[in-house]
Amino acid sequence: MRSRVVAIVIACVAISVNLAARAGGDAAKGKIESSTCLGCHGIADYTNVYPTYRVPKLAGQHAAYIVQALKEYKSGDRAHRTMHAQASSLTDQQMADIAAYFQSLGGQGGGKH
Ligand code: HEC
Repeated sequence: MRSRVVAIVIACVAISVNLAARAGGDAAKGKIESSTCLGCHGIADYTNVYPTYRVPKLAGQHAAYIVQALKEYKSGDRAHRTMHAQASSLTDQQMADIAAYFQSLGGQGGGKH
């Protein structure tokens, strides 16, 4: 009886750890999902930045900041036509994946963290 309780507790911990890892975002998936973003958001050794208007650099940005910004664009709290269109097509999981990918690029450039 006691060992069953222990087994259930262990199973619950395993599941919640798994969920926490997913919530953190998958950078490998984010790399694929962010291909449309890169046309505007220039990253280190990526040169086709828009010449006429400034696009914030996302490489090395904190994942939590990126997710928050995308949610605000999606909801309209942060107004920007282009980014509203971009963010509206993303699920929460895709936002987390993309954010994890951009954050992971931080070490490559100037190494600022
Ligand atoms: C057509 C060009 C374009 C594309 C494509 C694009 N963005 Fe943006 N993005 C911008 C511009 C311009 C801004 C600045 C908007 C503002 O002033 O609020 C911006 C702002 C942002 C910000 C806020 C950055 C900050 O420092 O506050 C995030 C995060 C972001 N974009 C993520 C993405 C992601 C993720 C994608 C792909 C799904 C994407 N963008 C695709 C042009 C683009």
